[in-house]
Amino acid sequence: MRIVLVGPPGAGKGTQAQYLAKNLSIPHISTGDLFRANISQGTPLGKQAQEYMKAGQLVPDEVTIAMAEDRMSQPDAQHGFLLDGFPRNLGQAEALDKFLKERGLALDAVLDLEVPEDEVVKRIAGRRICRKDNSHVFHVTYSPPKQEGVCDICGGELYQREDDHEDTVRKRLEVYHTETEPIIDYYKGQDLVVTISALGKVDEVTRRAMEALGRSE
Ligand code: AP5
Ligand code: ZN
Repeated sequence: MRIVLVGPPGAGKGTQAQYLAKNLSIPHISTGDLFRANISQGTPLGKQAQEYMKAGQLVPDEVTIAMAEDRMSQPDAQHGFLLDGFPRNLGQAEALDKFLKERGLALDAVLDLEVPEDEVVKRIAGRRICRKDNSHVFHVTYSPPKQEGVCDICGGELYQREDDHEDTVRKRLEVYHTETEPIIDYYKGQDLVVTISALGKVDEVTRRAMEALGRSE
């Protein structure tokens, strides 16, 4: 299956993607995680992305599309993938369509996670992620690690993302409404969108998502 996950910052895309990718046996491709890994490793790509991310703005399309296409071309993504955080504007959605079409492929679904803004703000404020593997995500209240500040999965140190501070979050929400929401209509035009509520426990949301994708767990 080829799926795009869309939803505001803090909706739980990364959290759900981990379970959905496992259930569907497809790789989880997060452009945010790829950028953060590049920043940790101090690569030129990471240096380029860092300033935009810190400001809550989108990294330029040229850089982002090239990185996403490179990842989607890896052997493990040949039979499907779950995209998280990409595409994020109409230019990226069109580039993805072109990439797939040239290979005789198409998307199966766009899963839209709906969460009220006040809940998103709470989720982001309490989020802590792992320094060793930034796809390991916790929440100080909703899903606390067994030992404060330490990742349950790999023992890495937990920290708060630089772009999770209040001002930047406000900017990211604004960018979501102006740049990313229009892709939902774009995909509605292709009859691909399934919308679910992302409120409730993590496993409830996963169950809802699997059902919406026509798969029972
Ligand atoms: P990115 O990393 O993609 O961030 P985002 O879209 O803002 O999404 P988040 O990671 O904030 O949230 P999420 O929905 O994954 O929520 P999570 O599962 O962590 O992008 C960051 C930046 O990178 C962008 O601003 C941009 O600069 C750049 N970028 C990335 N992709 C780009 C692109 N395509 N083009 C250009 N620039 C790009 O959950 C949040 C918290 O809630 C966690 O603490 C979690 O434990 C908790 N939680 C999750 N589910 C539940 C639940 N059901 N109940 C209670 N708590 C929950
Ligand atoms: Zn970890």
